[in-house]
Amino acid sequence: MSTEPHTHTGAVELAAGEVPAIRFEHVVKRYGDNTVLDGLNFTVRKGDRVTLIGPSGSGKTTILRLVMTLEDSTDGYILIDGNPLTHVEKDGKRVAIKDKRRAEMRKRIGMVFQQFNLFPNMTVLENIIEAPVHVLGRSKPDAIKRAHELLEQVGLPDKADAHPTSLSGGQQQRVAIARCLAMDPEIMLLDEVTSALDPEVVGEVLGILRDIAENTDVTMLIVTHEMQFARDVSNRVLMFDKGRIVEEGPPAEIFDNPQEQRTKDFLSAVA
Ligand SMILES: Nc1ncnc2c1ncn2[C@@H]1O[C@H](COP(=O)(O)OP(=O)(O)O)[C@@H](O)[C@H]1O
Ligand SMILES: [Mg+2]
Repeated sequence: MSTEPHTHTGAVELAAGEVPAIRFEHVVKRYGDNTVLDGLNFTVRKGDRVTLIGPSGSGKTTILRLVMTLEDSTDGYILIDGNPLTHVEKDGKRVAIKDKRRAEMRKRIGMVFQQFNLFPNMTVLENIIEAPVHVLGRSKPDAIKRAHELLEQVGLPDKADAHPTSLSGGQQQRVAIARCLAMDPEIMLLDEVTSALDPEVVGEVLGILRDIAENTDVTMLIVTHEMQFARDVSNRVLMFDKGRIVEEGPPAEIFDNPQEQRTKDFLSAVA
């Protein structure tokens, strides 16, 4: 076993030769004068389910958007499966990787958003097959077959031809999950996927995600205020404040025996 360099929190013990799914190395993100992440280090092992908690504005969404390459980091490096996601260090300089390579990296990662983000002008089926056909180059019949399987899996077998706007929020989110899975992502990013839903449909969406967690080895990075879900599904919880990890550990430790005052305050505020 070796402890990785540079890290104080966010580090994990890696077996010899083990390559983590996600690694943040001194990642900086600024919006103008606002430094959101200031040299963030953390490591996520393959198959880990890591929940990010922390007050609004602490940088959780920014972290997910960086992994999804929807935002560019200001400095530092993000490695996916040991490969640079957007930038690489060359002769001591930070150099952007080629767009083509970046697109390749991005294919391995899927994200589900709070606001579903389905294409409103496409049917459910078209939403699900769009990326597999156009990004992965799958044949249309194969993509359609898989889309139907996924719709079955998320409990919407009869909605293939529906338009997203005719669906409830819970149904739209289930389609968004199916669309994400259609890319066979190695990493799934879930950003408060139940926060925009009516309370009575939160359970059905969480049930599908529990199912995926139980039956696949996809690495998950989860932002949620559903603490019971986080407790059940994740094996690690990272508590953020102002872009820094203030506490981390297995869910039972963080939720039942938090050490930091900021964690205690946050947990009592969301309970
Ligand atoms: N597109 C943006 N432009 C400017 N500031 C942003 C943008 N996105 C996020 N921020 C700022 O980054 C900080 C972290 O936000 P965010 O990552 O959304 O936090 P969280 O998801 O934990 O609530 C906040 O101060 C927010 O105002
Ligand atoms: Mg957020």
